[in-house]
Amino acid sequence: MAIPEGMEKIKVIGVVGGGQMGSGIAQLAAVAGYDVWLHDSDPAALGRAVQVISTSIRRLVSKGQLSQLVGADSIKRLKCTPNLEELGDSDVIIEAIVESEGIKKKLFSQLDKIAKASAILASNTSSISITRLASATSRPMQVIGMHFMNPPPIMKLIEIVRGADTSDEVFAKIKALAERFGKTVICSQDYPGFIVNRILMPMINEAFFALYRGVATKEDIDTGMKLGTNHPMGPLELADFIGLDVCLSILKVLHEGLGDSKYSPCPLLVQYVDAGRSGKKRGIGVYTYQKKFAAKPS
Ligand code: NAI
Repeated sequence: MAIPEGMEKIKVIGVVGGGQMGSGIAQLAAVAGYDVWLHDSDPAALGRAVQVISTSIRRLVSKGQLSQLVGADSIKRLKCTPNLEELGDSDVIIEAIVESEGIKKKLFSQLDKIAKASAILASNTSSISITRLASATSRPMQVIGMHFMNPPPIMKLIEIVRGADTSDEVFAKIKALAERFGKTVICSQDYPGFIVNRILMPMINEAFFALYRGVATKEDIDTGMKLGTNHPMGPLELADFIGLDVCLSILKVLHEGLGDSKYSPCPLLVQYVDAGRSGKKRGIGVYTYQKKFAAKPS
């Protein structure tokens, strides 16, 4: 594949956060031919990430979607570390940690100190202001939103979000990188929830209100939206898949940032998160799951 202009300089990609999204992003980057450093502050999360990525690559090879050689090379190119400083030689660092502005800002300030001067710092945030994350660094022109969809190796879209100071050059490089990952790009201005979650989250929240008010069962709400509107997953099942904690964080950002009560999170969603029912990744959310990452809702 011909390397687009400017992209020849990107050789090493750092990914921070080895959860559902970070592990998928690291896999995509390794399969696309980059050297990848994956960091998580929780060593157990790194262990799980390696397992998920190896299983996923093996599956792609067995289905003939990836050659054995590329699969083996991708696994070799991926290095995991509990030490953030190892990401210092990365050309692009993609952050995929917990959806909290305070925690992300602290990380961006650390990354600013350890990353080389030319490095681009990208965030996979679902809703938080890129401009505010950039303000925690001394390089706001090199900070950008790179919002992958879940799961990153499969979903075709990346939403790129320009902060107030993101340069045209950085936008062009990240767009070219997303395209090299085989994705279609959309571009959003820096407003809460960007494009996709500004539209998706009110639907998920409304599905929770329908369940909370006893309008229908969870199964009928999901079947209604699947067969009635041709969505591949119902909104409650999708919320479990995204993570109820992530959905709640996004709704809070929308509510606070846009000041409209229509984004106020449903009390049932809040209660589930308070009870630790954060969705498929924990084995229980709206539905319960037999086996992590593999089960059908029951
Ligand atoms: P997750 O809960 O699966 O993973 C988060 C990981 O970050 C955990 O492994 C945790 O140990 C690690 N972490 C937390 N704080 C850290 C720190 N300071 N330094 C290093 N590692 C840290 O969460 P998930 O679902 O992967 O979401 C991550 C980000 O991606 C969030 O900003 C979320 O809004 C966004 N996102 C999530 C999507 C989804 O469907 N779940 C879709 C698109 C974006």
